[in-house]
Parts: sequence; structure tokens; C-alpha cells
Amino acid sequence: MDLTTSWLGLTLGNPLVASASPANGQLDHLMRLEDAGAAAVVLPSLFEEQIDAVGSRREAILSMGVDHSAEAPQHYLPPVHIASGPYGLLPERYLDLVRRARDRLSIPVIASMNGTTPGGWLDHGRQLQQAGAHALELNLFAVPTDLSESGSAIEMRYVRTVQELHGALTIPLSVKMGPYFTNVGNMASRFVEAGAAGLVIFNRFVQPDIDLYRLTLSSEPVLSQPVDIRLPLQWIGLLAGRVQASLAASTGVENAEQAIKYLYAGADVVMVTSAVLRDGPGCFSTILRGLDEWLETRGVASLDGIRGAMSFARLKDPRAYTRGQYLAQLQAWSGRHLDA
Ligand SMILES: Cc1cc2nc3c(=O)[nH]c(=O)nc-3n(C[C@H](O)[C@H](O)[C@H](O)COP(=O)(O)O)c2cc1C
Repeated sequence: MDLTTSWLGLTLGNPLVASASPANGQLDHLMRLEDAGAAAVVLPSLFEEQIDAVGSRREAILSMGVDHSAEAPQHYLPPVHIASGPYGLLPERYLDLVRRARDRLSIPVIASMNGTTPGGWLDHGRQLQQAGAHALELNLFAVPTDLSESGSAIEMRYVRTVQELHGALTIPLSVKMGPYFTNVGNMASRFVEAGAAGLVIFNRFVQPDIDLYRLTLSSEPVLSQPVDIRLPLQWIGLLAGRVQASLAASTGVENAEQAIKYLYAGADVVMVTSAVLRDGPGCFSTILRGLDEWLETRGVASLDGIRGAMSFARLKDPRAYTRGQYLAQLQAWSGRHLDA
């Protein structure tokens, strides 16, 4: 069975990619993912704040060299709080991870940066490239809290961020975007115009919860479920064949069924994180086996035989992708008698 596909111009042995998670910061875990069949790995994100914090600290050290004696106490330096933050992966250690992963793996290694503003931190992309990353993923994650800032101003900032990062690189760039735009397709097209060779649909945002006993805000990561594929599936289906970029489906892949649906909708690759955190890297071999069996049973020789066959662009009646679906669901419920 020919499961090869292309992502960001890279040829992959199959369409399953291990998306970013803290576990991917460990080389032995990356090797287990490769052994289980992952066709590429995305490293955990390096955050804009981490890069900026280290930059400021370096500048402070340099300026101290000029203005102060060599015995200047360490506590004059701005602390790098973020370094011990979510991943504790400082930019230097991250570069080392990229080098080691490149050295030990034979599948593509994709580095990830997470931030939303144009600026000096984006130069770090060049160092990730020099360290050997095959491609770079930019995760645009922001929660706008300024009620006076317009959506178009935020969108423009995102687009400039993509443009700047693309300008700093020769390796391909993908943009991991969220679904919260008035016109997702328009944003997708603008990211592609700005230099994205691929789009990851979608970023899964972390939302807060309230702990009623401690009266604190908590933000425990919630792993996805198969039902969560609906929104990305809709947009993969709407974008396939209509943007000049490869498409990665991300969210809710637990077994082969969700991966196959995403491929029918038009995904070039399908990304997996929650299932790996829940079941371990072995989920890749299970999903691959299921995909292989599905194609074999139906006599489909390669992914091209199914990819995009159920996309908006190719369906004769694509109403289910649009408002028509809403109406149909309402009609299905009206007239039903509820016992309770
Ligand atoms: C614990 C955890 C950590 C994550 N860390 C990152 C990250 O560093 N960078 C990133 O782009 N996405 C990160 N993600 C998002 C995943 O890469 C993925 O896009 C999301 O979880 C949806 O896929 P899934 O349904 O297969 O989990 C993280 C997700 C989880 C659950």
C-alpha cells in the first residue's frame, strides 16, 4: 500500500505526524515515535517570551561588562522565569534538541515557535534552521484581552509575523492557526500569501476553568476526543484544493477512523498528540494498520484515491459544509418527542 504523502514539500512515508507536546522534547520519546510509524515529528514550541527573556538577560550581561565590575552580583540580572516554565527548554537547549533529533532520526524534524508579534525574536528561526530543522511551525496563540483592538489590527499583526519569519528562513514554514476568525478561509489565504507553505488546522486553545473549592483559575490541559474533529474537518474540507498550501489536520485523532475522515476531507497529513499522551507512541502503529486495512479492503492503491474526495470543492452537493447543515440538523430535531 502506498501511503506516501507530501507535507511542506517534504516527502513523508505516511500521513501521520506527531504534533507538538512536551513529550516530544525527549529524544528517546522521539525515537519511539519514529519506531511506531510517525512520519515526522514536531518538537514542543519555543515561546516568544522564552526567547525574549534570554535576549534581555544576554543584553544585561553585556551591558554589565561595560558598566560594572566583573564581580557584579548575579541577582542584578533579570531572572529568566519563563525558562523554568512549561517546558524549561531554553533556546540553547532547544537548538541542541534539534541537532540530536536530526542526528538520530531519519524522519523529518519540525521545530516549533509560538508567538504572535513581529520582532527580533523571530530571528531565532534562522538558528533553528541552522541547527538542522527540516521545517518550522509557527503556532499563533493569542487571547485578545484589549476590547478596543480591532480584529483586523490583530490579523495584520499575525500576517506580518508570518511574513517576517518567512523572510528569515529558507526551510518551509507552516502556520498552526486557530479557528476564531470571522473568515477562516481568508486568513488561511493571507497566511499562504505571507509565505506559509502549509497550514495546521487547528491549534487547540487552552481555556481556563474555575476551581470552586479553592476559588482559583485552573488550566489543566484537556486531551481531545474523536468528537472534536468536527470543526477542523469542516475547515479542511472547505480549504482543500482552494489554497496553495499543504494542509495538516490537527485535533481529535484517536484511531484510524478520524484519520481517514480527515484524508477524505482533503488533509495531506494528520497530526496526533492527545492519543500519544493517553496511549503512548504505539497508537501510531494502530492507526496506520487501520488506515492500511481500510484502503486495502476498498481496493484503493494510494492516498490519492481518497484524499479530498469529500471536500467542498469536489462534492456535487457540499451543503453540509455550510449553513445548510445547520438547517438540516434543526429539521432533524423538530418533531422528535423527548421522553424526559
Ligand atoms: C499537553 C499538551 C502540550 C502541547 N504543547 C504544544 C506546543 O508546545 N506547541 C504546539 O504548537 N501545540 C501544542 N499542543 C497542541 C497539540 O500539538 C495539538 O495541536 C492539539 O493537542 C490537538 O491535537 P490532539 O487532538 O491530537 O491532541 C499541546 C497539546 C497538549 C495536550
